[in-house]
Amino acid sequence: MEITWLGHGTFQFVLPSGETIVLDPWTDGNPKYPKKHTFKRIDTMLISHGHYDHIHDAVPLAKKFKPAVGAIFETCEWLKKKGVDKTMPMNKGGSQKLGSVTVTMTHAVHSCGITDGDEIVYGGEAAGYVLKFEDGRTIYFSGDTNVFMDMQLIAEMYEPDLVFLPIGDLFTMSPREAAVACRLLRAKTVIPMHFGTFPALTGTPEALALAVDGVWKLEPGEPVQW
Ligand code: NI
Ligand code: MN
Repeated sequence: MEITWLGHGTFQFVLPSGETIVLDPWTDGNPKYPKKHTFKRIDTMLISHGHYDHIHDAVPLAKKFKPAVGAIFETCEWLKKKGVDKTMPMNKGGSQKLGSVTVTMTHAVHSCGITDGDEIVYGGEAAGYVLKFEDGRTIYFSGDTNVFMDMQLIAEMYEPDLVFLPIGDLFTMSPREAAVACRLLRAKTVIPMHFGTFPALTGTPEALALAVDGVWKLEPGEPVQW
């Protein structure tokens, strides 16, 4: 499949069939969103939590491409109110098949308020996802989180081949915590995310690579094959 980092916590996966999965869409106002990128299709959208830097463009993109939108129940209710048709609510420990991918919702240690005008609306809890593809390979996408011991359960139950972890510090874990997360997850390969978007997100892949093997640094807008 083709994986493209769209900056910050936003990713696009294009499967060999053309099926396209978008995680945590933030394009408008994302300083690292590649200007040359355009969405051609979106079959599945996954939202880890309701912070604006993960959900900002979920509504306009869902209206345009009509994907199945997976998120925690309360965030799905909010998305429905905003005119998203095909919400696929779930909660932690639950799995559902979205397109060809089996998606399991996992825990995350983070908050989940949705900024709606000048209010913050309850969005349920922050979550992560395990994606199991038809070829048997598995990805763990943590969303925004600190390290937590139950990452051991994710390793035991889902044995992810590739993990996505935030390393930026301040609003998520930094490379120090992410290194421990890699150990708990028994991660073979880790794609760092949620760093460098603003000066305040100071964690770097280089700092993580001092502590663990298998750091795969992507560049926004440069697709890689996996
Ligand atoms: Ni967040
Ligand atoms: Mn965030």
